Amino acid sequence: MADHGGRRPRLVMVASPLQGHMTPMLQLATYLHSQNFSITIAHSDFNPPDSSNHPDLIFLPLPANVSNIDTSDGMTKFFQALNHNCKPHLHNHLLQIINEQKESLNKESIVIFHDNLTFFAGSVADELGLPSIVLRGSSAVFFPAVNIIPQLHQEGRFPPQDSLLQEVVPELNPFRYKDLPFTRRPIHKTFELLTMLITKTSPSAFIWNTIEYLEQPILTQIRQQYQAPVFTIGPLHKIVATRSTSFLEEDTSCISWLDKRASKSVIYVSLGSLAKLDEKVAIEMACGLVNSDQPFLWVVRPGSVRGFEWIEFLPEGLVDEMKGRGLIVKWAPQKSVLAHNAVGGFWSHCGWNSTMEGVSEGVPMLCQPFDVDQLLNARYLTDVWKTGFGIVVERREIEGAIKRVLVDKEGEEMRQRAMEIQEKVKVAASVGGSSCNSLKDLVAFILSF
Ligand code: UDX
Repeated sequence: MADHGGRRPRLVMVASPLQGHMTPMLQLATYLHSQNFSITIAHSDFNPPDSSNHPDLIFLPLPANVSNIDTSDGMTKFFQALNHNCKPHLHNHLLQIINEQKESLNKESIVIFHDNLTFFAGSVADELGLPSIVLRGSSAVFFPAVNIIPQLHQEGRFPPQDSLLQEVVPELNPFRYKDLPFTRRPIHKTFELLTMLITKTSPSAFIWNTIEYLEQPILTQIRQQYQAPVFTIGPLHKIVATRSTSFLEEDTSCISWLDKRASKSVIYVSLGSLAKLDEKVAIEMACGLVNSDQPFLWVVRPGSVRGFEWIEFLPEGLVDEMKGRGLIVKWAPQKSVLAHNAVGGFWSHCGWNSTMEGVSEGVPMLCQPFDVDQLLNARYLTDVWKTGFGIVVERREIEGAIKRVLVDKEGEEMRQRAMEIQEKVKVAASVGGSSCNSLKDLVAFILSF
């Protein structure tokens, strides 16, 4: 172990301004702070985290100059600019600390943490000779699924032709070609994105907010392929209590609404922090929810239905029909909602945080994946863990799917499986479990610098 004269390394953690990335970074920071590390959260000044919720952490805003970038055609340009613009600020900040320390006898090492979209932090670490650790906010399988795309493209297997879509990718069994990230984008756009996403730096370690039990074959594959240690520390929200990490204000009134509903009677609908819907799709969702005749709690993020500020897309008659049956909120305290006894099903876009949160509470899921890693996560839910099924967004199909999960025997069987997996998650997250042990190993690893 390195001799720091008793001082623990200072940790500088750099998170993307996306909810699904900021949340696990703040959760990990909270855990590491509880292990007596001093922590700086370096973040872009776009979508800053609420520092008042995390008084023990130091916050360092980095000027990103990205608020005028048009993201309607994807986020590649946004992240190119963010990485380009934030890099010199982080570099200068770290250099200043290093120079100050040259005078000091009691030196403190610095370890950089970043996610897969704040790769500028990895470059800065390499340039300054500092160790860096990547916290990946998605499923482990997303990593090889992205890295294999150039090879598949060379071999004529990507983008997959229609005849291949249903086939299993032999290198990624049981995932199919249709589950691969970015299959629906023009190939030049995919390559623009891959140039950004495929790690060019040499991180000292990788961390995933996942559980060994859930992704063992893929984790074994990753460990065989990469030299760097891999830590699996999920689900972080079940290991460390963290105050709200939400960019939007949580509407907690939905908890008292849930208190008045029968056990396992409510379908909770949330499509994460990024997905956007066309009006037609949103109307089909609304009609399916109403026609199912089950209570529902629906998160409609402001601006998430194209062309509307919030729920103005709903015809008046439909709003009247919804009264008494359902509640629509702008943003929910999702982890508390999923843990509530009244929630019997989770209709999700299958973002990794939502997937882990649903799995942790033993809630069966209706899967409506959009892109990126969500189709892989949905495949886990439907075919591997068998705690969810895919849905077609059409009102009659939705009505049937909601009844299937909340009322039918099939839903009950799925819930049993979901609860069995929930037990495995509980074990992993308790003292002596795989995730807790991995966190301890991570602390020991950090102390080795
Ligand atoms: C993005 C990608 O879409 C996802 O696929 C990737 O794995 C991580 O980055 P996002 O779409 O926001 O994330 O989905 P998800 O990973 O599920 O994260 C959403 C987070 O927002 C969850 O932690 C969820 O609890 C929270 N949330 C969502 C709320 O707290 N309230 C809500 O009303 C909705």
